[in-house]
Amino acid sequence: MPIKYSRKDFPEGFKFGAATAAYQIEGSENGNCGTCHWDTFSTTPGNVNNGENGSIACDHFHRFEEDLDLVKAGGFDSYRFSTSWARVMPDGKTINKDGLDYYDRLADAICERNLLPNLTLYHWELPSALADIGGWANRETAKRFVDHTNAVIKCIGDRMDAVATINEPWCVAWLSYFLGHHAPGLRDIRAAARAMHHILLAHGLSIDAMRSLGTSNIGIVLNLTEVQQASDTQSDVSAKDRLDGIHNRWFLDAIFKAEYPDDILKDLIHFMPKNLEDDMTLISSSIDWIGINYYTRTIVAEDANEPWPSIKEIKGPLQQTQMGWEIYPDGLKNSLVRVSREYTGELPMLVTENGMAWKDTVLNEKVFDPIRADYISSHLSAAKAAIDQGVNLKGFFYWSLLDNFEWAFGYEKRFGLVHVDFETQKRTPKASFHDLALALTS
Ligand code: FCB
Repeated sequence: MPIKYSRKDFPEGFKFGAATAAYQIEGSENGNCGTCHWDTFSTTPGNVNNGENGSIACDHFHRFEEDLDLVKAGGFDSYRFSTSWARVMPDGKTINKDGLDYYDRLADAICERNLLPNLTLYHWELPSALADIGGWANRETAKRFVDHTNAVIKCIGDRMDAVATINEPWCVAWLSYFLGHHAPGLRDIRAAARAMHHILLAHGLSIDAMRSLGTSNIGIVLNLTEVQQASDTQSDVSAKDRLDGIHNRWFLDAIFKAEYPDDILKDLIHFMPKNLEDDMTLISSSIDWIGINYYTRTIVAEDANEPWPSIKEIKGPLQQTQMGWEIYPDGLKNSLVRVSREYTGELPMLVTENGMAWKDTVLNEKVFDPIRADYISSHLSAAKAAIDQGVNLKGFFYWSLLDNFEWAFGYEKRFGLVHVDFETQKRTPKASFHDLALALTS
């Protein structure tokens, strides 16, 4: 199914990209990589579908040349990837030469293909040694993130087109330390509150370190969701505001207004670290771009039987992806417009992730996935509508280049434009890959 838009429908210089993340594709058993909290989380029964983990994943560590050829063949301008902290510093402090050599070769291979490298420094591989000291609940972890930043930037910073400090701080903190769905799988409000602050502190410290090294074009990647109330009762409306506060405003207010939203802070303050105001200037250091990851909306109702934040998610009626996420492109437009109007103004924005999982299968060497082409068209349409409403959107990255290790869901959920057979590591570009390539090259 053809993509409804082509390059010509977007402003001059608009960049299209494909995105991946280290633990999801590289294979953590390769290259003297250290263990990270995902290795332990995934080998703990019940945490990850089928007890799967990222030890081999797409074996991208050995196959990155072939994979980058696919990015090029897909007609993309840019490639978004991440560096694993556990690969760069297996014990959380000593540099692993093999790890940096690998990223050095990867950076060269991206540039050799005239692709623009868009680096994310942290996409969730916290070294086990730092998990042992409490991970993001401990302020020390934020300070140590500077070492990772320095090591990576000194090695490959000269070739990066753009650098993000952190991918999805809400997932790093709330999803992982309060809801317990991601590593380290805690369900502890005190640890979560601290992580909500320390991950932003790590962002601020990392910016500072990069500015000293002369790095330009620095940003952060937030995952936003459009939160809607299940009904118009006062209690559901305030449940909506609470989730919006925790998921969206917490990070946007901190980064762009140097404060946390009062309505959330008043309940979290009891668990937060002392003197957090002293960190807000650093956390709100100026950035050069903001990345937004968008997948779906979230509908919530009040759950008065539960303690704060007393909310429960309600399934909506729209068509769902393999993840059970509703397909709701308007949420992308609304999120981009909101961020630009309420927070960022003219600051360049990128859609750093958008995509869908489907139960794709290979038949006669082909994967027929018209629903994905349709998903891409409708979200490009939303991105265009946001641009028409004045949003300074500069690019759009599809998640993901390859089917990969989808965290707690293991290998079952297939987000890729390219199908991966995890037994043989064979790559098969899906129909949507060819559709998008046509749109980007015609
Ligand atoms: C995002 C993550 C990415 C991937 C997609 C589906 O939250 O950044 O790694 O798992 O969701």
